[in-house]
Amino acid sequence: MQLIHTVRAMQALADERRAAGQTLALVPTMGALHEGHLALVDEARKHADHITVSIFVNPTQFGPGEDFDRYPRQLEADRKALERRGGVDEVFVPVLEEMYPDGQDAQQTWVDVEQMDKHLCGRQRPGHFRGVTTVVSKLFNCCRPHIAVFGRKDAQQFIILKRMSRDLNFGIELIGIPIVREADGLALSSRNVYLSPDERQQAVVLSQAVEAVRARILEGEQQAAALVETMRQTIGQAPDARIQYTEVVDVTTLQPIEVLEPGQEVLAAVAVFFGATRLIDNVFVRVPQPD
Ligand code: PAJ
Repeated sequence: MQLIHTVRAMQALADERRAAGQTLALVPTMGALHEGHLALVDEARKHADHITVSIFVNPTQFGPGEDFDRYPRQLEADRKALERRGGVDEVFVPVLEEMYPDGQDAQQTWVDVEQMDKHLCGRQRPGHFRGVTTVVSKLFNCCRPHIAVFGRKDAQQFIILKRMSRDLNFGIELIGIPIVREADGLALSSRNVYLSPDERQQAVVLSQAVEAVRARILEGEQQAAALVETMRQTIGQAPDARIQYTEVVDVTTLQPIEVLEPGQEVLAAVAVFFGATRLIDNVFVRVPQPD
């Protein structure tokens, strides 16, 4: 497994492999790798001959006052974790100047997926998804994959990127894997390291909230307001939890729903602060058809 630091070297390698008829997969990450990221690698291996993992903490997707500066950076530990997991051909680790040649503030070209960032995380983090779609477009152009693997933990990100790939004719197939969780249900996240032991225990309410919504939908609840109330009550059981949002949206449009339609696929999602740490969780649920 090699480390590649320049765009030119990465593109040359990808071109060589494409010319040899091989299938390439990309797993984009910001590092601080955990089992969730490694599950993406396992999935990529099922679909491709070569796997590139990218590690780049992308400044343009962090808002002012967010955790860009303190985001965990641990390249050596990440390299070892990927080495142990096996099957990764290279880690693409560009420095900032490679990805933003004139600096991030001089960037003139942005990729914006309209409307789909108006709710959930997009509403709370203006400009976040523009940063994500722009950097993922760059990573696609650097690594030239046939397939790219993402986690459904970042559900809105996955749905927006799928739409981007389709709208811009990237010709790249996006695969989304289920959320990898701790034994008590907490979704794995690079940000979990910020939690105090007490907050860590309380954080189980996120997965309990979205699971409660799944159960209620499957029992026949069709009013989104009732589902939102279920999420708020469950999260409210954690004394230090501060809700940022609890929403139920359509999975294709990412627009809020009032009454769920039989057969519709919906996404119920939450964002919760513990102190300065922001955690997210979600479920995808197909609304049952009446018997
Ligand atoms: P990052 O937060 O490092 O996540 C990289 C990928 O890992 C994303 O696709 C994310 O959904 C997935 N992932 C994280 N935790 C997961 C879990 N518990 N289960 C399953 N998948 C999980 O998402 C980003 O980086 C960035 O926005 C990026 C796409 C790399 C663009 O900068």
